[in-house]
Amino acid sequence: AHPIKVGLLGLGVVGGGTWKVLNQNAEEIARRAGRRIEVAAVAVRDIEKARRLVGDDILVVQDGAQVATHPDIDIVVELMGGHSLARDWIMQAIAHGKHVVTANKALLAEYGNEIFAAAQAKGVMVAFEAAVAGGIPIVKAIREGLAANRIQWLAGIINGTTNFILSEMRARGEPFTEALAEAQRLGYAEADPTFDVEGIDAAHKLTLLASLAFGIPVQFDKAYTEGIARLAQEDLAHAERLGYRVKLLGITRRRPEGIELRVHPTLVPAENMLASVQGAMNAVLVQGDAVGPTLYYGQGAGALPTASAVVADLVDVTRLQAADPGHQVPPLAFQPDAMDDTPVLPM
Ligand code: NAP
Ligand code: HSE
Repeated sequence: AHPIKVGLLGLGVVGGGTWKVLNQNAEEIARRAGRRIEVAAVAVRDIEKARRLVGDDILVVQDGAQVATHPDIDIVVELMGGHSLARDWIMQAIAHGKHVVTANKALLAEYGNEIFAAAQAKGVMVAFEAAVAGGIPIVKAIREGLAANRIQWLAGIINGTTNFILSEMRARGEPFTEALAEAQRLGYAEADPTFDVEGIDAAHKLTLLASLAFGIPVQFDKAYTEGIARLAQEDLAHAERLGYRVKLLGITRRRPEGIELRVHPTLVPAENMLASVQGAMNAVLVQGDAVGPTLYYGQGAGALPTASAVVADLVDVTRLQAADPGHQVPPLAFQPDAMDDTPVLPM
């Protein structure tokens, strides 16, 4: 079979990691996907910087619309972030019948319903494993591994930057601003780190997880969101003396009257598994009625772990496309016409 051609929108931390993983593990990936997966085009702001990484054989442009609509591209991978251009180019890719892989939780949390509906109408897939909990295959776990269950609740550490900051503040007494600067240097933070420290990024992810777990539309505007910016060193020390650790948790649960959706700093008993999650690691507990409690743990941010999830989606989409060239399979995540109308509770 001829190779699957990929267009990358963005070649930064995650895009660069994706380029690296696709190249370093090309043989394994081709075996699992059934075809080679090759990058054919890239959109970036700084063309010279991108050329130094990808060489001269690949189309490098600034206008992502050229990538999103290019006749040779099968899958468009959006790794640039933001709302406006990313949304336009994804919608153009869908309109041109291309599958989409994205790590952009902010975009999906705000415009996911519209994007998934457009994809369903066109019969293409929108895959977003990398948008939630970095390298942990949590989307796949909920969508496939737990498909037999009525999910009752899920809770976890789903932002690497804030967990890194809290870990550094506690273990080394490092000031908040220095720990944040280090998280930025390591490629964990969002372009606007307010999204991390104010709990917005975790709320974006929680919104997507709740949609998957409960089959409800994406409803970011209903999430209660509180971050870690007002926490001081003394708060962490007091919690420690009382036998707790402070963790920024995302929690969603089914209650008789509706679904709770909240992100806030939480006192976690020191002996609880979530208390020992350090640095940019993430951990998500999911409770299903048949399986009971399950725990998913791994690197929640950074170039290669996130690229691992992006490439896993590329393999999935490639395999599904080969199995069903007419794209009659349901999209990899949401089916907007099969949503549950259970309300999300006001906070
Ligand atoms: P990044 O390092 O800032 O990279 C962004 C890339 O997009 C850069 O290559 C940039 O081009 C390109 N870009 C931005 N605006 C553009 C525009 N208007 N036109 C063309 N290219 C443009 O960001 P990142 O950390 O990789 O994050 C990318 C996405 O992944 C975001 O949605 C983020 O939320 C998500 N994500 C990140 C992580 C992580 O650990 N970093 C984990 C999971 C998900 P230049 O290189 O020329 O500037
Ligand atoms: N800024 C995000 C985090 C990146 O720190 O978790 C991974 O989604």
